[in-house]
Amino acid sequence: MKNTVMTLQRQKRDGEKITMLTAYDYSTAKLMDKAGINCLLVGDSLGMVMLGYDSTLPVTMEDMLHHTKAVVRGAENALVVADLPFMSYQVTVEGAVKNAGRLVKEAGAQAVKLEGGREVCPQIKAITQASIPVIGHLGLTPQSVNALGGYKVQGREIDAAEKLLEDALAVQNAGAVALVLECIPGSLAEWLSEVLTIPTIGIGAGAGCDGQVLVYQDMLAMYSDLSPKFVKNFGSIGELMKESFMTYANEVKKGIFPAVEHTYKIDQEVLDKVKKKYEEEHHDNRNDH
Ligand code: KIV
Repeated sequence: MKNTVMTLQRQKRDGEKITMLTAYDYSTAKLMDKAGINCLLVGDSLGMVMLGYDSTLPVTMEDMLHHTKAVVRGAENALVVADLPFMSYQVTVEGAVKNAGRLVKEAGAQAVKLEGGREVCPQIKAITQASIPVIGHLGLTPQSVNALGGYKVQGREIDAAEKLLEDALAVQNAGAVALVLECIPGSLAEWLSEVLTIPTIGIGAGAGCDGQVLVYQDMLAMYSDLSPKFVKNFGSIGELMKESFMTYANEVKKGIFPAVEHTYKIDQEVLDKVKKKYEEEHHDNRNDH
C-alpha cells in the first residue's frame, strides 16, 4: 500500500522506526521500494553525488523536477519527498508555495522538505495551507554551509541547543509533518524526539530519532568526496562497480565479450544473398570506372 505522511505519524505513535533513503533515479528508487524502504527523499544532495558540485547550492528547480519525476515512477509503495532547492523558498512566501506546488503537480512528489527554523515558518504555514505536507530540516543544514562555516556538528553549546529546540517547536507549530535532524549530538536528538509530537528522522543524530535517513551513495561507498563519521558502509558497491567496469573493458579489448550467447542470429542464406548482391553491385561499379 502507498505510504503517506500519515504512515510516518502512525509509525512514531507505534514506536516503529521510519526508514528513509535518498533516491534520484527510477532504477534505484524501484530497488529501494522493493526492499521496503518507507520513504524516498529526492534530496538536493543530488547536486553533489549525482552532478558533481561541491555543495548543494547550485541545484535548480529544474534539476529537482527532473529527478523527482524519475523517482516517482519507481516508487510503488514508498512515500516520495522532494527537497526545495536553495533560493526556491527563502525569498518570498509566494515563491515557496509556487515551487512546492511544482514539485507536487509537475513531478508527483507527495511532500516537500525545506531547511531552516523560525525564519522559514511563514513558508511552512503557507505551503501547508496549500495542502502540501512539509518536512522540516534542522541542525546541519547544507544550504547554509557558507553561514555555518562548513559541514560541522551543530547544537553542542547551550545557546545552539536551545535554538534548536525553539526552532524545532516553531517548525512543528507551523505545520511541519516531520523533521530531519542532521549532525547533532545523539542525546539532544533523542530528547527532541521525545518533546516533539511529529516524527524526527536523523542523519548523524544517533539512534534516538524516530527514523533514519542516509544518502545512498554514502552507505554504498559510491561517493568519496566527503566521508562523515555518521556514515556506515552497508556494501562496497562503489568498489564492485569499479571492478565490474574494469572487467568489462578488459573483456571487450580481448574479444571475450560479447560471446555467442549475447549475439543475435541471422539465417546464413539471408546473409549470403545480401553479401552476393553487394559484391555484384560493387563489381559492376568497378567495371564502370
Ligand atoms: O539532500 C539530502 O540528501 C538531505 C538529507 C541529507 C537529509 O537533505
